[in-house]
Amino acid sequence: MRIVVTGASGFLGRLLADALTRAGAFGGAPISRLVLVDRVASPGDPHRAGTPVQVVHGELPEHLDAVFAEPVDVLFHLAAAVSAECEADFDLGMRANVDVTRALLEAARAQSASGGPVMRLLFAGSVAVYGSHPALPLPAAVSETTVAAPRSSYGTQKLMCEQLIADCTRRGFVDGRVARLMTVAVRPGKPNAAASGFLSGIVREPLAGLPAVCPVDPALEVALSSPRRTLEGILRVAEAERGTGPGRLEGPLPVNLPGLTVSVADMLATLRQVAGDTVADRVTLAPDPAVEAIVGSWPAAFDHRRATALGLTPDPSFRSVLLDYLTDHPDAVAAPPR
Ligand SMILES: NC(=O)c1ccc[n+]([C@@H]2O[C@H](COP(=O)([O-])OP(=O)(O)OC[C@H]3O[C@@H](n4cnc5c(N)ncnc54)[C@H](O)[C@@H]3O)[C@@H](O)[C@H]2O)c1
Repeated sequence: MRIVVTGASGFLGRLLADALTRAGAFGGAPISRLVLVDRVASPGDPHRAGTPVQVVHGELPEHLDAVFAEPVDVLFHLAAAVSAECEADFDLGMRANVDVTRALLEAARAQSASGGPVMRLLFAGSVAVYGSHPALPLPAAVSETTVAAPRSSYGTQKLMCEQLIADCTRRGFVDGRVARLMTVAVRPGKPNAAASGFLSGIVREPLAGLPAVCPVDPALEVALSSPRRTLEGILRVAEAERGTGPGRLEGPLPVNLPGLTVSVADMLATLRQVAGDTVADRVTLAPDPAVEAIVGSWPAAFDHRRATALGLTPDPSFRSVLLDYLTDHPDAVAAPPR
């Protein structure tokens, strides 16, 4: 089984590549080659023990020939431009998100049309496909049947891709699956250009001994998922057999991965409880209307029946999310928490 991960040097791409390498199998079948595609290099790539790895560096549309040089059985499409980038530069978002996804779908379609396998495609979607507007308010709990009316270019581009993937699946060009990710926190490393980046920053930076700014009213509720649960969700949606009943993926709808509903104030209080006043006092409040407009339009509470049927559950509490981060990234903490 030849498996491709796009965006493999990114935050989730690296976690996914590690998990696939560790497992050495997908859906019970051994992985014969893992193809890691990204425009930037990731230091560990060529040395993944056990699973043969092919590394493709560069802009994805320029390397489709290399990616599809041999049949692709499964492709995880994680490469994307993130929310604030897409809001700042419409053309960049259209190119990076819509054009690239369409090019991948065309390559997969050509593969199946020439007698090759119908590629399984896992697309990393986003809850940014939802947006609230006074004329179209979101229900108290959002589900996959809630009308998706994005309030950002990023969300619109993700929704366009979802729809295109659904149609290509209906036509039998690919077997497309969409996992809509919640905001993943706590994200390690450097801040990124996502509008939701502060949801990691207000925890990660103070723990590292750095100041952090909270750009929203702390009463704002958000839906979060830890990196561990997000990775579990991506793999579960990709590996599930289609059909009805527990553990199976039923119908053409995307899957909203489970999210923990929490207020920013609760996140900050948990940080104070776990890491102490000195750490928590490094966060200052400075509302930024641009960030509030994007993140505030995303839903915070979900009806997760579809994910539950696949055996997926949200993180139990923000405390457990924080403790996971401390366990997984001991070097990211400046002073030991209390
Ligand atoms: N992290 C989150 O909170 C979150 C939430 C919802 C959805 N998502 C989605 O999940 C996916 C992965 O997110 P992430 O946080 O790991 O992102 P990331 O920005 O850390 O990684 C994306 C990677 O894709 C690469 N890339 C982008 N366009 C490329 C191109 N044209 N050619 C080659 N490489 C390219 C980048 O170099 C980067 O390494 C994205 O599709 C994102 O929209 C993430």
